[in-house]
Amino acid sequence: MNAMALLRTMHSETKFRLKGILGSDQPAEAQQAWQALRPLLELHEKLEDEYVYTALAEEFGAGSPLGDWAQRHDGDVAIVAQLIAEVDAAQPGTPEWRMALGRVADALTRHVTDEEGQIFGRIEQTWDAARLESIGAEMQQVVEGAAAKQPVSRRAHAASARRRR
Ligand SMILES: [Fe+2]
Repeated sequence: MNAMALLRTMHSETKFRLKGILGSDQPAEAQQAWQALRPLLELHEKLEDEYVYTALAEEFGAGSPLGDWAQRHDGDVAIVAQLIAEVDAAQPGTPEWRMALGRVADALTRHVTDEEGQIFGRIEQTWDAARLESIGAEMQQVVEGAAAKQPVSRRAHAASARRRR
């Protein structure tokens, strides 16, 4: 799979799952779904950082839009990490918990809009198809490796989420 297509798929799956959690009226279920989603958020930003933005920074250097994105991404990640910590500090299912989760969802929506609107297209014009495919294949392997390490119930959940699409 093309690396950018894989990242876009992860974006839309994250949005879908967050919407489900925020809309749930079952606190235990919502908390479980949130705990299952959390490692995927970390995995996603790690993939972007390690496979895409770090390589761009090395190739293009500071002062160019592609080279500077890694720094901007680090800033986004730090903000989201702080917002996630606020979710963890709240009691699951309470209005505070839901509001904290809503702030995570808002921050991620901004992240997605920025990346998909400003940088993914530029990367697709910069790296050729073969390179995008090979990076995508490497990232896909990491995603599958992470899924295999999840407990069975979460794997079943992920599989049913895939079937729904
Ligand atoms: Fe992203």
